[in-house]
Amino acid sequence: MAKNLLITGANGQLGNEMRNLLADRREFNSFFTDIDSLDITDAKAVYHFIESNKIDTIVNCAAYTAVDKAEDDMVLCAKLNVDAVGNIAGAAKNYGARVIHVSTDYVFDGYNYQPYTEDDDTNPKTTYGTTKRDGEKMLLKIAPDSIIVRTAWLYSPYGKNFVKTMLKLGAEKDSLNVVCDQIGTPTCAADLAAAIMSIITHEEWIPGIYHFSDEGVCSWYDFTKAIHRIAGISSCKVKPVKSKEYPTRAIRPLYSVLDKSKIKQTFGIEIPHWEESLEKCIKVITENN
Ligand SMILES: NC(=O)c1ccc[n+]([C@@H]2O[C@H](COP(=O)([O-])OP(=O)(O)OC[C@H]3O[C@@H](n4cnc5c(N)ncnc54)[C@H](OP(=O)(O)O)[C@@H]3O)[C@@H](O)[C@H]2O)c1
Repeated sequence: MAKNLLITGANGQLGNEMRNLLADRREFNSFFTDIDSLDITDAKAVYHFIESNKIDTIVNCAAYTAVDKAEDDMVLCAKLNVDAVGNIAGAAKNYGARVIHVSTDYVFDGYNYQPYTEDDDTNPKTTYGTTKRDGEKMLLKIAPDSIIVRTAWLYSPYGKNFVKTMLKLGAEKDSLNVVCDQIGTPTCAADLAAAIMSIITHEEWIPGIYHFSDEGVCSWYDFTKAIHRIAGISSCKVKPVKSKEYPTRAIRPLYSVLDKSKIKQTFGIEIPHWEESLEKCIKVITENN
């Protein structure tokens, strides 16, 4: 029997990649919604949608993701990243659906010196990170059978993201300052969507928190140099600077590499290196332009 899947926030980066992967999957009856068709902050609408469409599995790709703006927009950020997750959890519990929810490396403080595991203590330093941590807690309290996938440094051909910004700035400017003391791993949204599909199609539902990013480690400076090298941009000089020379409204974690051992072992997932996936994504972006 076809599984009824609900993908919320389907017009975002991850949501679009879920659309791509589900396009040919006839065994699933997929519902793609965004704020115009299902506002997840509207509890009544969420309960009604999940009940009336007999949803089996919800992949929550909707979130408040503007990290700096969140510092001045705490109420809406919490409404979306905490209360709305409660709506999804409550409806899932009522009508027997399962939830895959996406969270972030920003739940950590960034003071680690080795990759964060799912057992490490959270200690968010920003409004975005705090609301995402509270959303995780809310979900597990109401629907403890859920799966949470924490990811980091997401990019894709869709919407606004670091890769698209650096391609644009690289083409327009002679030089750019980029921070070199924040370390993490870029994640192609298509790879995350593929990992979520592996979870959905796995023979057994294994609840819990999982970490997912692409393989490898780099700074935003290294990431920018790779973006420009792959795109053939040579006219823009990229200069490494420290975070204190590039202040932002929300403080970024200095180290946010995620340990992916658990998701790889549990679901048999093979993860590409970030540079390999970056090449593929830049090819799609340039072909679309
Ligand atoms: N982007 C990153 O670097 C990053 C890093 C780590 C983790 N994550 C997590 O990964 C997940 C996916 O991120 P993403 O980059 O794909 O996000 P995104 O591109 O910002 O997409 C989020 C989508 O949710 C929609 N949305 C906003 N309010 C809504 C509402 N009330 N009801 C329904 N939909 C609503 C947004 O619409 P509008 O565009 O109209 O607001 C957008 O289409 C999120 O949980 C995020 O926290 C992201």
